[in-house]
Amino acid sequence: MKARAINDYIYCVHADIREGGLFEGIWPIPEGVSLNSYLVKGEKTAFIDLFRDWGSAVEQMKQGIASAGSSFPEIDYLILNHIEPDHTGWLREFRALNPKAEIIATKKGIDLVKTLYKIESGLREVKDGDTLDLGAGIILTFYEAPNVHWPDTMVTFEASSGTLFSCDAFGSYGALGERVFDDEFDEKEHAFFEDECLRYYSNIVSSFSSFVEKAVAKLSGLTIKCVAPSHGMVWRNDPKKIIDRYLKYASWAKGPAEKSIAIIWGSMYGNTKAGVDALIRGIEKEGVPYSMHRVPDEDVSYALTAAYRSSGLVIAMPTYEYAIFPPMAYVLDIFKRKHIIGKKVLRIGSWGWIGGAKKEYDAILEKLKWDNLESMEWAGYPTEKELALLEERGKELAGMIKSQT
Ligand code: FEO
Repeated sequence: MKARAINDYIYCVHADIREGGLFEGIWPIPEGVSLNSYLVKGEKTAFIDLFRDWGSAVEQMKQGIASAGSSFPEIDYLILNHIEPDHTGWLREFRALNPKAEIIATKKGIDLVKTLYKIESGLREVKDGDTLDLGAGIILTFYEAPNVHWPDTMVTFEASSGTLFSCDAFGSYGALGERVFDDEFDEKEHAFFEDECLRYYSNIVSSFSSFVEKAVAKLSGLTIKCVAPSHGMVWRNDPKKIIDRYLKYASWAKGPAEKSIAIIWGSMYGNTKAGVDALIRGIEKEGVPYSMHRVPDEDVSYALTAAYRSSGLVIAMPTYEYAIFPPMAYVLDIFKRKHIIGKKVLRIGSWGWIGGAKKEYDAILEKLKWDNLESMEWAGYPTEKELALLEERGKELAGMIKSQT
């Protein structure tokens, strides 16, 4: 992939991963993802964030750095904003090509370089406010941003251009192609990337939302003219847009979020689905937007995103072998791990010859700070009376969401 110039000394060098697969080995990326690195050329040359041998990433990166008039052996400093292997997996190969480059990271980052990659020399620890002078008036400053989203994370700032190399913060899923800058994408493409940005945030970053807020507050004194993340587009035209977007997403971690309802549902023989349909009739009476996510048909990545962005949740599943429908148990476990808290939640579901989901569900609830409406269960297909009640419960939930302040 050809490098793109941010100015006459900074280049975005990126690889698009389009082979499908899973991000972090968990999250589907049907529209790909970009791995972004940055070449900064003063009298000395720095390369910010590496990549891993994933699809054709190595070849794309070699082409990119060559198109910017450089090569990996010519790098003087390799700056690792954090050590997650999507940005460091190729480190030993890099070291073999370039034994002289100094590898720069936070103390925790350098510890990880030693532990994960068995590299012991040519390492430099940096801390908050430390600088690296590349000559020609180009100075990089490092700011620690712990837990956005790894403990070792830092960001790098180049003051002359106002470029913030923000690591995973302000990133997104979605391959970029030849275009990388925010002003090169049209409205429809921005809408796509906004969806993929939220999915990325909810999947990867949401658990660390308070640290996102802290990091943004810490950087508020900088004049940021360009946000250059390690995934997704480079925001040279409107960097405030992506910063504000992340702050909005971070605020949802504490609730409330959008006035919408995510219906996460599973059904074995259509009995729970009949209850969901009745609920929806009630929700629609209040005019509250909702989205539907069937488990296990749809990957949990999408249900997680919908749950994160919505103030209201419906959890609908049958009892299965005295307990929760197993795919829903997995979803609830992910919700717990990803701190989906502060929601107004209604659980419904049918049972066959004996119930049991409620008991297991109630045990899970103890760990989730949800405002739960009273659960509703029924045997087999819901009766007319139960359907009417379900419709009323849907209306009740939607009314609460509608009136949230
Ligand atoms: Fe893109 Fe945390 O690595």
